[in-house]
Amino acid sequence: MTEKIRWGILGCGTIARAFATALAALPGAQAAAAGSATPGKARRFAEEFGVRTWYDDHESLAADPDVDIVYVATTHNFHYADVRLCLEHGKAVLCEKPLTVNQAQARELFALAAAKGLFLMEALWTRCLPAILDLQQRLADNAIGDVERLDAHFWKAIPFDPAHRFFNPALAGGALLDLGIYPLTLADIVFEGRPPAAVNTRAELGDTGVDETSYYFLRYPSGAQALLSASGRGVSPREALIAGRRGWVRVHQFMGASRYELKAGDDPVRLFEFPFDVNGYEYEAAEAMRCLRAGLLMSPLVSGDATCRVLGLMDGLRRDWGLRYPGE
Ligand SMILES: NC(=O)c1ccc[n+]([C@@H]2O[C@H](COP(=O)([O-])OP(=O)(O)OC[C@H]3O[C@@H](n4cnc5c(N)ncnc54)[C@H](OP(=O)(O)O)[C@@H]3O)[C@@H](O)[C@H]2O)c1
Repeated sequence: MTEKIRWGILGCGTIARAFATALAALPGAQAAAAGSATPGKARRFAEEFGVRTWYDDHESLAADPDVDIVYVATTHNFHYADVRLCLEHGKAVLCEKPLTVNQAQARELFALAAAKGLFLMEALWTRCLPAILDLQQRLADNAIGDVERLDAHFWKAIPFDPAHRFFNPALAGGALLDLGIYPLTLADIVFEGRPPAAVNTRAELGDTGVDETSYYFLRYPSGAQALLSASGRGVSPREALIAGRRGWVRVHQFMGASRYELKAGDDPVRLFEFPFDVNGYEYEAAEAMRCLRAGLLMSPLVSGDATCRVLGLMDGLRRDWGLRYPGE
């Protein structure tokens, strides 16, 4: 590997732009190539972000010998094929969330990566954020006592458009895979990967058949509960509240947290702040680069087990609603 880690960006849409912005400011990173299946898009992207090479297809990017790791930023439905393509061309991969549409696909990709000795990580940025890592440590240190309840809701108003990736079943649309993955991930973090003992759920399926709003109630063996939801139909403060036996935590914008408040016992509320260096996507990129340099095949922050646990939970929720995507 050269001194700088050379990134390929596969899919040049909205989130790829945010990631490229973070990469440009990250020491040791170089945006080496961009690939888009939309003619002309990779070239415009490359010019804007100072990327050396561009391709009007995904395979040429995956085959570029001057790329060390590919960031996959297509819509959910394409992740499985795009990650597979990159692994088959011998590339390490950081792939946007959800890594795949279901757990079985993710297991296949982790098995392929392991067989080829290649790094694979889901770009679940929340798990790499300094504020979340600090909070995780404080919870482990029992700062608020045993956690009894987590409330986390990710709502945003998305104007209805059946072709938009949020509404389009062919693009694996719906609130769960796009937004619900964040409160479920936070529950996985707060309850340290323990599986819930019982799950109740409800989904409001819209005209295109995907969940426009969905609710997930998880009950843990200790009796603790997580009350979670996601929606493209309304607006909410996007806060998470963690209630412990002797204190509480409030996390602002929990999916992309840069601060949180903590109240322990009779102490005054304390604010912990972790301003981003760029826009928050630099931490997942830095973690992937740290792992590559250390020769790891998986990140301890976003492990294959963690990715598969949350995907397995999402499979079960969709099974309850009878929601399957084309080709599943
Ligand atoms: N971590 C985060 O905060 C965050 C935020 C937003 C999204 N995401 C994730 O990032 C992924 C992409 O989201 P996005 O908002 O960036 O999506 P987007 O801009 O709508 O599309 C991204 C790329 O996917 C391909 N694509 C989109 N619609 C397509 C269609 N109808 N047919 C064929 N290809 C299509 C295109 O790839 P080409 O350029 O190759 O044509 C497009 O450039 C999703 O999996 C999402 O979950 C993560």
